[in-house]
Amino acid sequence: MAKFSDEGRDSFTSKFGIVCAAAGSAIGLGNIWRFPYVVGDSGGGAFLLIYLGFIVLLGIPVMLSEFIIGRRGQRNALGSFKRLAPGKSWYLVGVMGIVAAFMILAFYSTIAGWTLHYVIQSFANSFAGKTSAEINQFFESFHTRALMPLLWQLIFMSMTAWIIFSGVKKGIEKYTKVLMPFLVLLLVIMAIRSVTLPGAKDGLLFLFKPDFSAVDSGVLLAALGQAFFSLSIGMGALITYGSYIRKHNNLGNISVQVSLADTMIATLAGVAIFPAVFAFGLDPAEGPGLIFTVLPNIFQQMPGGYFFSITFFVLLAIAALTSSISILEVVVAYLTEELNLTRRKATLMAIIAAAFVGVFCTLSFGTLKNVTIKELHIFGMLDFTASNLLLPLGGLLIVIFVGWYMKSSDVKDELSNKGVLKVKLFDILMFILKFIAPLAIAIVLFDSLGII
Ligand code: TRP
Repeated sequence: MAKFSDEGRDSFTSKFGIVCAAAGSAIGLGNIWRFPYVVGDSGGGAFLLIYLGFIVLLGIPVMLSEFIIGRRGQRNALGSFKRLAPGKSWYLVGVMGIVAAFMILAFYSTIAGWTLHYVIQSFANSFAGKTSAEINQFFESFHTRALMPLLWQLIFMSMTAWIIFSGVKKGIEKYTKVLMPFLVLLLVIMAIRSVTLPGAKDGLLFLFKPDFSAVDSGVLLAALGQAFFSLSIGMGALITYGSYIRKHNNLGNISVQVSLADTMIATLAGVAIFPAVFAFGLDPAEGPGLIFTVLPNIFQQMPGGYFFSITFFVLLAIAALTSSISILEVVVAYLTEELNLTRRKATLMAIIAAAFVGVFCTLSFGTLKNVTIKELHIFGMLDFTASNLLLPLGGLLIVIFVGWYMKSSDVKDELSNKGVLKVKLFDILMFILKFIAPLAIAIVLFDSLGII
């Protein structure tokens, strides 16, 4: 029996549409900007293996849990918890998600803004004939300034707000359905160029040859945070999207497909980046600027590099957009459903608040770079808090909710679409949700915080 059915509710129209929207949320700067730089910071191969393990063992179960909560609750992240656990404090997981959404939106739009700047610079052919040192210099002088990065950030935020304002079908689905396959194709071509550069081998070794001697609790937490960030899980984005999934769609299939696509693209980005990092003598641990100093070098070495560069940065900006809308939608769905604001008002309020925080993130590379807590500037602080603390904590509570609080017959109901589908591996899944996932997340999270 469907517990809540809201006939008038906006929903995705096709299975393909949902997979694209969820994959659109998952695939973004997290795969192409964040993944390589975190791999670089964390020492390479061993990190990659741990990351892959976390995706399978923790990522897919959390993603599935979010879809289950959302589709059963038929509400935004906070409202779904309220409906499924009336009178209980579980809705606080939704509150935490909304806080995380603002933080992520704030720093995500900084990087998305850089990407837009690189679209224009590619058009203008600004990297032509530049050496790797000059490309570095170019990035340095751009991202430490105030005005240009802020302007691009604002433009990106406005684009996000505009799509969200248009609603689920016309907005989210339409924009995510078309362009992702194109991005994959381009990454494959770039990866081929990268691995055929002289000196590429060291990059492949760095990425694929695990050296576990450098693994500590910080590396484990970084891998956990990256897995959650990349899959868009832990803050209710996929609870919100889950509430737009129709009753006959197969949640298990969707979760596996989306996670596979996301992981494939991150790995591909790694193969495109690291050989080039080593070939051009750059530093894999240089941090958030990594792709912006590496990629223009690759395009310089490609026939047709001018067009590749434009197309790539355009697609990256679009990938960022289909992700950022899923973050903003968490807040907007909450404001419209729980506080009865109009979609227009909700979008406007949310984006203005996020932009306010965002300004500080962008400025933390230049004007505010001396404002730090424990060696992290504002940008790093927000990224760390949201990705490595709030998302894992959210994920932990989400698996506990589905594993322990929800009736297992209700969980089975959602997975099987009320008995229509055969659910394979149900017992294994429940075992993971009840024991493995909560324990693993808790150990990594609390160990790195020094709590256990
Ligand atoms: N996963 C996206 C990326 O890789 C970013 C993102 C979108 C996200 N929605 C999210 C991250 C929700 C955490 C939570 O770029």
